[in-house]
Amino acid sequence: MTFKEIKQTADTYLMPTYAHFPVALERGENATYYDVDGKPYIDFTAGIGVNIFGTNDEKWKSAVKAQLDKLQHTSNLYYNETVACAAKLLCEKSGFSKVLFCNSGAEANECAIKLARKYSFDRFGEGRSTIVSLQNSFHGRTIATITATGQAHYHEYFMPFLQGFRYADAGDIEQLEELVSDGTVCAVLLEVIQGEGGVVPLPAEYLRAVRALCDRHDLLLMIDEVQTGIGRTGSLFAFQNADIAPDVVTCAKGIGGGLPMGACLCAEKLGNTLTAGTHGTTFGGNPVACAGSIEILNRLDDAFLQTVREKGDYIREKVSAFTGIKSVRGAGLMLGIDLTEKKAGEVASRCCEKGLLILTAKAALRMLPPLTITYDEIDKGLGILADVLSE
Ligand SMILES: Cc1ncc(COP(=O)(O)O)c(C=O)c1O
Repeated sequence: MTFKEIKQTADTYLMPTYAHFPVALERGENATYYDVDGKPYIDFTAGIGVNIFGTNDEKWKSAVKAQLDKLQHTSNLYYNETVACAAKLLCEKSGFSKVLFCNSGAEANECAIKLARKYSFDRFGEGRSTIVSLQNSFHGRTIATITATGQAHYHEYFMPFLQGFRYADAGDIEQLEELVSDGTVCAVLLEVIQGEGGVVPLPAEYLRAVRALCDRHDLLLMIDEVQTGIGRTGSLFAFQNADIAPDVVTCAKGIGGGLPMGACLCAEKLGNTLTAGTHGTTFGGNPVACAGSIEILNRLDDAFLQTVREKGDYIREKVSAFTGIKSVRGAGLMLGIDLTEKKAGEVASRCCEKGLLILTAKAALRMLPPLTITYDEIDKGLGILADVLSE
């Protein structure tokens, strides 16, 4: 099909929930895509933080294909070696005790919310079910996770929302203390770097103060690492940079590496909270997705993570010297850029025309390139960005 035909078909049959860039991508190699006319694009998006080994990674594809040829889906009623090994590897690498596999970030957060409420119910009975999340957060698009999301515009249209959510200002520990003090709260849910909120890192001292507050009030600290997790910030999880130990961590995006997958990890005390019949998902823990995740987790060793930090530092230094840059923030290969004058959305559109795929988050430009992006690809992409910024 030509671009025009693809666009017309998509616009006719897909619900218009996304404002598409006028490009139809057909194939790719690492961090370079090609559209249907063969035009190349450098990829600073990784499919919004998913394709951590880029497109067409041979080893990841082999792992996935081998499982695809053996057994595709079993349901969670039966044991499967690949799923068991993926769970063991993720728990061992992260230091958590148990995991529930699911299909997306929103679902991983749904699991965290249910886990917190059930754990509290089992210990304290009813009336202690409130989750405190942060203003400017993003936790997904289901009704529970948009309720948890602390951004007013996500709360339009879909009322009534769920009961039992409160929002604290990030960084304000006194306010958080106040919000949890009535004894109805069971957990605090936060992102270490607020991704959709504009790539806003939370200070490590604040995160440590939240941990201490949760300990004082017997609350669970739940960290949403859907965007920051699985190597994105140069550590397996971003909470490790702040040296805190959460009770629950959710991840998705990178753990699937191109297939739909999410995970909710928990500390030992929570391991037997969600029992048979209290939670489930038909596709969660799909063996094909799990096979890919084993390949991903095995490759995320210290040496690999070091390359992520180095590439992030390299991009930061280069971009900081470009025309029209106010600030660059983030960690590893999760970077947010504030511009002095130009609008991020217009810059992203112009970059796309010139062969660079780049994201926005609120008013910021956002980069989430594949972790395997080469320096050559980085330089090509930054060249396009520099040209667009100085136009
Ligand atoms: C921090 C965070 N949580 C949750 C989600 C939702 O993930 P999904 O789109 O896979 O449901 C996202 C998606 O961008 C996210 O960035």
